[in-house]
Amino acid sequence: MCGIVGYAGSGEAQRFLLEGLEKLEYRGYDSAGLAISSQSGVIVRKTAGRLERLAAELGARPVTGITGIGHTRWATHGEPTTSNAHPHLDCDEELAVVHNGIIENHAALRDELKSRGHVFRSATDTEVLAHLVEESYARCGDLQMALAAALEKVRGAYAIAVISRREPGKIVAARLSCPLVLGFGDGENLLASDIPALLARTRRIQPMKDGELAVLTCERADIFDREGRTVTRSNLVVDWEPGAADRGGYPHFMLKEIEEQPRALADTLRGRLDAARGRVNLDEALWEPGEIQALRQVRLVACGTAYHAALIGAELIERWARLPARAELASEFRYRDPLVDSGTLLVAVSQSGETADTLAALAEGKRRGAGTLGVTNVLGSTLAREGGRSLLTRAGPEIAVASTKAYTTQVLVLTLLALYLAQERGRPLPAGGDFWRELRGLPELATKVLAGAEAIRREALAFAAWSDVFFIGRGTDYPVAQEGQLKLKEISYLHAEAYAAGELKHGTLALIENGVPVVALVTQRAVREKTLSNILEVKARGARVYGVIRENDAEAAGIMDWSVSIPAVSDALTPALAVIPLQLLAYHAAVARGCDVDKPRNLAKSVTVE
Ligand code: G6P
Repeated sequence: MCGIVGYAGSGEAQRFLLEGLEKLEYRGYDSAGLAISSQSGVIVRKTAGRLERLAAELGARPVTGITGIGHTRWATHGEPTTSNAHPHLDCDEELAVVHNGIIENHAALRDELKSRGHVFRSATDTEVLAHLVEESYARCGDLQMALAAALEKVRGAYAIAVISRREPGKIVAARLSCPLVLGFGDGENLLASDIPALLARTRRIQPMKDGELAVLTCERADIFDREGRTVTRSNLVVDWEPGAADRGGYPHFMLKEIEEQPRALADTLRGRLDAARGRVNLDEALWEPGEIQALRQVRLVACGTAYHAALIGAELIERWARLPARAELASEFRYRDPLVDSGTLLVAVSQSGETADTLAALAEGKRRGAGTLGVTNVLGSTLAREGGRSLLTRAGPEIAVASTKAYTTQVLVLTLLALYLAQERGRPLPAGGDFWRELRGLPELATKVLAGAEAIRREALAFAAWSDVFFIGRGTDYPVAQEGQLKLKEISYLHAEAYAAGELKHGTLALIENGVPVVALVTQRAVREKTLSNILEVKARGARVYGVIRENDAEAAGIMDWSVSIPAVSDALTPALAVIPLQLLAYHAAVARGCDVDKPRNLAKSVTVE
């Protein structure tokens, strides 16, 4: 998880490296460091703790130079101390390495290197790379060849960048199973673990593929395959605005991203819906003729918030396309013996498109002959490339660790997918103009929900004092409840649990006593009365019930202690709206508790390890 950046240009490397790392801090924030090369040597500055500490140190004592690499860490091997922070140096302090990933055979390599006299300064797996490159460099005197030779000895996953005093204007980088993107600027070439770090300088990018190695100088950036042959492919141009990865005056990225949801939903719908004719167009996924008609089942794999979106997708696919559909945690799917074959469409859902377990589940599905589809927010991500085909959510860069706009746009894409599969299989689609008008109007409806933010902020102050919170819902309200409890847990550190409303009485009801808060979702007309009965059950035991209900549901409002309403749309369309009050509740509770909302402890946004 960690983020790496590199700069080869004519400006001050330190400036880009710090700016870039700031955009990657969501990937880890245990420690940070950079290395800048010049003929007089490689200078490393690193420190435990947040990037701002490193920035303060560099402010007082800047490092000059036009070529450098940087790193922000999420510790795996070795504690988050300054000595374990990247970059790591070789014995002679002539070359520096930053690395995202895990070197699995590091222990054996470390022993070998030590026996040959290498001196280690950290407890990290990464440091073996510095010493391996040192050895091969001593033999061949060429940084590119030295890195290629070193990588032949390692097992594991890496996005790695190396600089050397002996080749001062050059960065050599390589990728295997961890993201790495090159950026082509004006008289400068850049690299980063993710696109937001590049946006201030360029929108022309090239994601590297597994097994590739790149050499960057201020004049050029070349990619080579495993055999050392030059790789040519056209660059991608990202349509994210340069300021899209900035906080833009908001106190936190998370609040900005919550408020961006109407725009994100509108962008995600664009060109995919013909509401007047009641048709969906997802031909962009390039289906084979007859493929959809021949499907026997759909499996969705994902992690975290994306899994909650997948649960909703599975429900809607079954409902409309009448295909057996099931959402699974990618980390479980990949180690089972799942019943997946050529009659299966495997849909992998991932904001980043880089989550290790999701990519591994995708590979497992492919191995078993399934047709695959990636739903991701990042153009050029591994999932976008390897998903076989992909549907992009167009949420724009999501920086806060807790996912918000990515979730609502995933729900929307999966809703469209469910409709599309039904349409192509000749199944009846939702009838009546209301459904299609509501679907087209989701962005405006989300704006309406956001208008209630102030009332939610005031109520969230009460949440801040709680220690346990329960969330309940039926139908698609249940996955929304799961998403609500995850949001609250991850950023406010309050204990929260979600239950299918009918399930609470099979055990958890024992925990309900006077004043215990229960957040109840009542947006599904089909099961409304059942959920209201469940609410009365918890109220009878003293629970304080906070509701997310449909507009004008006076009866539901009447039995709640507090409620917020969402527009009274078709049942299938409430999940993208009902989650918004829960996002706001979690956000404001976390702020009231003084938590670091955008960077919750121990978490990282993009989990590229198992
Ligand atoms: C991490 C993040 C979550 C995210 C999950 C899956 O746990 O903290 O916010 O939902 O990874 O990420 P993905 O990029 O695959 O959607």
